[in-house]
Amino acid sequence: MEDLTPNPKDLDPIETASRDEIEALQFHRMKRSLKHAFENSPFYRNQFIKADVHPEDLKTLKDIAKFPFTVKQDLRDCYPFGMFAVPQSKLVRIHGSSGTTGKPTVVGYTQADIDHWANLIARSIRAAGGRPGDMLHNAYGYGLFTGGLGAHYGAERLGCTVVPMSGGMTERQVTLIHDFKPRIIMVTPSYMLSILDEFRRQGLDPRESSLQVGIFGAEPWTNAMRQEIEEAFDMHAVDIYGLSEVMGPGVAQECVETKDGLHIWEDHFYPEIIDPVTGEVLPDGQMGELVFTTLTKEGLPMVRYRTRDLTRLLPGTARSMRRMDKITGRSDDMIILRGVNVFPTQIEEQILKCRGLAPHFQIEMTRSGRMDTMTVHVECAEDHAAAEARAASARELAHHIKSVVGVSTRIEVRDPGGIARSEGKAKRVIDNRPKE
Ligand code: DLL
Repeated sequence: MEDLTPNPKDLDPIETASRDEIEALQFHRMKRSLKHAFENSPFYRNQFIKADVHPEDLKTLKDIAKFPFTVKQDLRDCYPFGMFAVPQSKLVRIHGSSGTTGKPTVVGYTQADIDHWANLIARSIRAAGGRPGDMLHNAYGYGLFTGGLGAHYGAERLGCTVVPMSGGMTERQVTLIHDFKPRIIMVTPSYMLSILDEFRRQGLDPRESSLQVGIFGAEPWTNAMRQEIEEAFDMHAVDIYGLSEVMGPGVAQECVETKDGLHIWEDHFYPEIIDPVTGEVLPDGQMGELVFTTLTKEGLPMVRYRTRDLTRLLPGTARSMRRMDKITGRSDDMIILRGVNVFPTQIEEQILKCRGLAPHFQIEMTRSGRMDTMTVHVECAEDHAAAEARAASARELAHHIKSVVGVSTRIEVRDPGGIARSEGKAKRVIDNRPKE
């Protein structure tokens, strides 16, 4: 694979600024943003008054810990437009988060917000190895989901030629990749695997495709999956992170030259890691729940938004801004099986160690009596479909999970194609336990 280290003169100056410069900018912006929230969002004014804090109480960046958290339920309670800090007429766009049940949580952007977002996605694509003039195939879903349009505006901003494909119609995705020859693809990692299957079904060699860089996010994925995709396509695979409540994709991005976690674009978002139980702020390096305060958002400023995503903060490498580790999972996706915490990403890692299995899986939770059982449904590889090979793969996987993750699981090895494919975010856990 080609070395795609960017030319330092192409970076935004703040990407390589000193920590002092970054923190001075953060402080200035945080103060302005808290004032804006207090003065223009009835929700935040009320929250601050209840917690007996005022924007003037921010004397250093760390003082943000005095301010109350914001949680997803707050957005639900204010549905649809109650949290905005500008009149609706100043919003140029609405998006909704991808909740599976109930009403979506609604977010809104002013023109300045959209501009910042496009700039940050442009910065992210460049960090991933993209350049002006590249053809970029965008298979993130267009619509209320922030993935499609978020990536689209940023790709245009960088000067790419965007193919606005959206998710679905997998056969056509492959035809267009083959015919248009994009250099970059933006898509969820699980859907990239469906695209890989389709390449093979059409008799095309994925390693011969024009793709050189994949920018994968919107769901957790592991370094083992990175290796699988990089080998299959002979391309670079890098991670992009974000969430609608804070902006959308492009809150943090992995650099192609280091692939060592995601640099948080700290000039626009201030990260903290907290203990998810006590809410206490943890030092850099410790695992916990990621919390963001937006520094420049006008439409929907967020103060200490609890993401539920579990990771840790690390010092900068390819850029001066701090990194976050690849996300282990969300606290709400964590399975507690007989006292052991299990994340779908841990199961993914073990599946990818088994040569006889394909990386398509789902975890099913059931209960008989008081006993919870975890069943991993996974597909066999095409060349390991015979009954004995499947039984051996099942034993191998159960053994890896028991020895590395520490839980006993049932393994069901299905035919190739036997696990439902995602066209966006994969649904990894199916909970069939009776509701309490
Ligand atoms: O998924 C925004 C996005 C679109 C990010 C495209 C990257 C690419 P939501 O639908 O609001 O927004 O979901 C946000 O998805 O809190 C994480 O739990 C998860 N997530 C997003 N990116 C990653 C990632 C978009 N790179 C929620 N790794 C977040 C792990 C991710 N989880």
